[in-house]
Amino acid sequence: MEFTIKSGSPEKQRSACVVVGVFDNRKLSLSAELIDRASNGYIGEIIRRGDMEGKLGSTLLLHNVRGTLADRVLLVGLGKERDFRDREFRAAIRAAVKLLNETGSYEAVLYLTEEKVKRREVVWRVEHAVVVAMEAVYRFEQMKSQPTEVRRPLRKLTLSVPQRSDLAAGEKAAAQGLAIAHGMDLARDLGNLPGNVCTPAYLAERATQLGAEFPDIVVKVLERKDCEELGMGSFLSVTRGSEEPPKFIVLEYLHSQRRQARPCVLVGKGITFDTGGVSLKPGLDMDQMKFDMCGAAAVLGTLRAIAEMKAQVNVVGLVPACENMPSGRATKPGDIVTSMSGQTIEVLNTDAEGRLILADALTYAERYEPEAVVDIATLTGAMVIALGHVASGLFSNNETLARALTTAGDDAFDRAWQLPLWEDYQEALQSNFADFANIGGRPGGSITAACFLSRFTKKYDWAHLDIAGTAWKDGKEKGATGRPVPLLATWLLAQESPAA
Ligand code: BES
Ligand code: MN
Ligand code: ZN
Repeated sequence: MEFTIKSGSPEKQRSACVVVGVFDNRKLSLSAELIDRASNGYIGEIIRRGDMEGKLGSTLLLHNVRGTLADRVLLVGLGKERDFRDREFRAAIRAAVKLLNETGSYEAVLYLTEEKVKRREVVWRVEHAVVVAMEAVYRFEQMKSQPTEVRRPLRKLTLSVPQRSDLAAGEKAAAQGLAIAHGMDLARDLGNLPGNVCTPAYLAERATQLGAEFPDIVVKVLERKDCEELGMGSFLSVTRGSEEPPKFIVLEYLHSQRRQARPCVLVGKGITFDTGGVSLKPGLDMDQMKFDMCGAAAVLGTLRAIAEMKAQVNVVGLVPACENMPSGRATKPGDIVTSMSGQTIEVLNTDAEGRLILADALTYAERYEPEAVVDIATLTGAMVIALGHVASGLFSNNETLARALTTAGDDAFDRAWQLPLWEDYQEALQSNFADFANIGGRPGGSITAACFLSRFTKKYDWAHLDIAGTAWKDGKEKGATGRPVPLLATWLLAQESPAA
């Protein structure tokens, strides 16, 4: 989809559709008011008849409204004016775009971006309108033999800003939103692909393609032999049961103007399918474990977004990718493995494999002398119990970093909530046979998983995002969400050095 920014009166737009808001209870927004005036009170009349109450997300499509130059006027309910905040703004945009995509307009001018949102400026509204619009029209149909065709898909959206002086900033915000949306699309596609297509080799191939498309991203793939030489015994213990060769993918985006600056390193869990291994998972919903590489997908998606924006930051992506399968050669409960850090691990449960592959990637990250390291992983089922599907779990050994990530998540409406990493939780990992075990029992399962990771992150500022509840949706809308690409891209952008 294409986006442009414009400033002008709604009644004067020559367009297939002009989109304006109506508040609950029947209060016209300023742009709806302008259409009403141009049409001699037609909008007010419709509202008085009770066909549009202004309930959040409701829509009413009108044709040939006199006094206007557009073919259609779409009224969108915004809910109560004093409750109109981030969530409501995004819901209104989503409702408008879904309706436009399903009806006859190829193109439209959106005035919802002119509505005031508490604590948010016009650039925020434009960026979010683009992200939400792209999210709303996303489809994953590459595995269907007959894609369902949308008869008249929405091709072009013009976003209106209040003043001509907002145009330049609006255009930049739209470009940023589009870059984030493209990153999310990539993350969603990779997440939605089945395990028999999206293998470790496939992830490596897509990373290499990303490097070809964006020459600022340099991609390197370490093979099993390379990982053996590096001593990645923890990572390699997880792939033992699989016929698919493991890949350790490295993506480097070192923006020319500050090549010397320490990079931020993103580490993504890339389990392309998690059966649990010998500690086999139950059958119910096991198909969802194809999403166990959504951390890896978020790393690729974020690098894509950053490269498209040509952001002035240095970012490195690390993706340990493999399958977790049972077999005669697979790692067994009780096996002891030696990680790249030299620390030994008693693998009490082969289904706690994410932390095992992340451990070696986190050690590998040391070589970059990083500014900060953030790992992203569908790590624990307990995370879904704790925070549901709304917020990602956030853990960190540095409060400033934790705060920066929380703020980025709030701004991106891709929220994270911090949980404790107190020393008291570390005891659970005690082992009689190795340096420590890979599980700590059910109580505080997400926290003890983070504690495990913390034993490999002592040399730098580090945060862990457990995205088990946020990376994909179950039910009728089953599919990858593209989260937390918006959070990560927003966090990285906030660290941009002023353009040289
Ligand atoms: N990939 C799973 C975590 C997961 C489970 C995410 C369900 C989303 C939904 C992870 O590898 C895993 O199996 N974790 C175990 C850890 C346990 C054995 C300590 C879990 O959460 O049950
Ligand atoms: Mn598992
Ligand atoms: Zn897993």
